[in-house]
Amino acid sequence: MGGREATMVLLDENGIRCDGRKVDETRKITIKAGVLKNADGSAYIEFGDNKILVGIFGPRDVHPKHMSDTDTGILRVRYHMEPFSVTERKNPAPSRREIEISKVIKEALEPAVMLEKFPRTAVDVFIEILQADGGTRCAALSAASVALADAGIPMRDLVAACASGKVADTIVLDVNNEEDQAGQADMPIGYMPNLKKITLLQLDGILTPEEYKKCVEVGVNGCKIVYELQKKALTDKYFGNGSD
Ligand code: CDP
Repeated sequence: MGGREATMVLLDENGIRCDGRKVDETRKITIKAGVLKNADGSAYIEFGDNKILVGIFGPRDVHPKHMSDTDTGILRVRYHMEPFSVTERKNPAPSRREIEISKVIKEALEPAVMLEKFPRTAVDVFIEILQADGGTRCAALSAASVALADAGIPMRDLVAACASGKVADTIVLDVNNEEDQAGQADMPIGYMPNLKKITLLQLDGILTPEEYKKCVEVGVNGCKIVYELQKKALTDKYFGNGSD
């Protein structure tokens, strides 16, 4: 630990966080649908300093064939960090963390996607983390949802994701990288706002039952903010935003 981290103020006396946000504020979020010409669907998200690109292929034949399911389509997710996405060059080979996050995102998307309409096929979700700054799994999940919708895959709802957490004994929305490293808890949440269903909930840290409830409530409110921006990205692409 360097001296900078040791002296960093996570929450000042006015309730302002280390990056200038209030406790219930997300970082700046921009989402764009349909950014790649060769993929069946795509999306790009900037979530604070996170920059993430998602490309979708499918539904298409499954290779190897024995991996296919005669009753339903399957979802395959690859979350991949570019070597330049973090300050210390990341080895391009898949790490345990990337394999875990791929699985978590897949399981968070599955309840939303109507895979039963496409038996024997696979839908592939390729996630490229171009720049990481804490909260990549949530930002990637939100972008993947938009990219699946952009690919025209029938969905029950979009999955919107945002983390909440505990920093300086206070429950805050959208934990950034510094808060994740020096804070007390981080709770990534994926939520389908229309169906009112949580599809991802992880917790790193220790919370009291009251803090746990508050964290879920704050995180779900964050997901609702993300949801509006996801819908806007799709309406901008399909109904025009006047600028293209
Ligand atoms: O990104 P997310 O919060 O979903 O996952 P995490 O495992 O809690 O990682 C938190 C952050 O640590 C990432 O967003 C990156 O900014 C950073 N990280 C890193 O610097 N080097 C890695 N090899 C992996 C993560």
